[in-house]
Amino acid sequence: MTEPKKEIILSGIRATGNLHIGNYFGALRKFVAVQNDYDCNFFIADLHALTTNPDPEQLHANVKSVLAEYLAAGLDPEKSTIYVQSDVPETTEMYLLLNMHVGIGELMRTVSFKDKARKALGLSPENDEEDIEKQVCGSDTGRRVNAGLLTYPTLMAADILIHKATKVPVGKDQLQHLELTRRFARRFNSFYNVDLFPEPYDFDFGGAPIKVPGLDGSGKMGKSEGNCIYLVDDPKVLRKKVMRAVTDEGPQTPDSQMSEPIANLFTLLELTSTPDVVEHFRKAYADCSIRYGDLKKQLAEDILAVTTPIRERVNDILADDGYLAKVLAAGAERARERAAATLSEMRHVMGIRKF
Ligand code: TRP
Repeated sequence: MTEPKKEIILSGIRATGNLHIGNYFGALRKFVAVQNDYDCNFFIADLHALTTNPDPEQLHANVKSVLAEYLAAGLDPEKSTIYVQSDVPETTEMYLLLNMHVGIGELMRTVSFKDKARKALGLSPENDEEDIEKQVCGSDTGRRVNAGLLTYPTLMAADILIHKATKVPVGKDQLQHLELTRRFARRFNSFYNVDLFPEPYDFDFGGAPIKVPGLDGSGKMGKSEGNCIYLVDDPKVLRKKVMRAVTDEGPQTPDSQMSEPIANLFTLLELTSTPDVVEHFRKAYADCSIRYGDLKKQLAEDILAVTTPIRERVNDILADDGYLAKVLAAGAERARERAAATLSEMRHVMGIRKF
């Protein structure tokens, strides 16, 4: 008897810098956990990173570091297909073909496009679609918003549809792109009266979604917020960051409610410490005997216990270019096999036939 086909998971991460512990607890750790149960595909989105014109050296270094961090955190190239987006040129061809069925207007109304266009044009959040459109069509300002940025969702749809993936774990900010992918898939299927593309949905791994807070008292850990603990931070840097985390003046009355900065430290402690340690500090908070310095010291050591083995592996992996090249060559070969099959079906459906 043949084994039932596993469902296809796909996720990508833009190569824009080092991974932080928010990426690890929010996504990477879960990718590692599902590798045995699904047909897993994880790629590094270098072409998407190009939409904001990074420095070439920097882009190259970022692809390498994200790959090393994926592997060091436990993604296993024997179990998952791990590749770089630009190594699968079938995706870019599919992106071109898909674009023939995508409206410029619907792309311009995408939230991520509006945000990035506003930023590139120096506009504020109060500026509406009309303001953006006027500037985008203007002869001197228009060039600041490139067509790659506009068609970002088409490329992301191609990443997903080329694998016929149905489960796509993404952050909240990517849900609209996934919605567009479903729309493009439906539109293509119905235009050509075929059943080529399944509709992909966000994949929630079960359990409550984790929001990993930053160290600055409020909000989520994020690269652009400057409040991150990176997987590769060395112990001295990491301890310093944790010791500098925002706190408050301490509980004044027994069993008082925690302010956001303190609740955030407890969230991080819960992710990294043992239940008895968390319990100890909760009690100390409740009876007002807590010393935040002690909590932070403990927290720093417990975070280090998670990150140190990963950091050490990252350094070993980065030193081994031969290994990295081998992993990527094997990943690209596997990804391209399926990508080529899907693309050839798509070309056939659209009338690009071989003679
Ligand atoms: N746009 C995603 C992000 O910024 C990265 C990405 C590109 C992606 N293609 C994808 C994620 C396909 C999931 C599936 O986070």
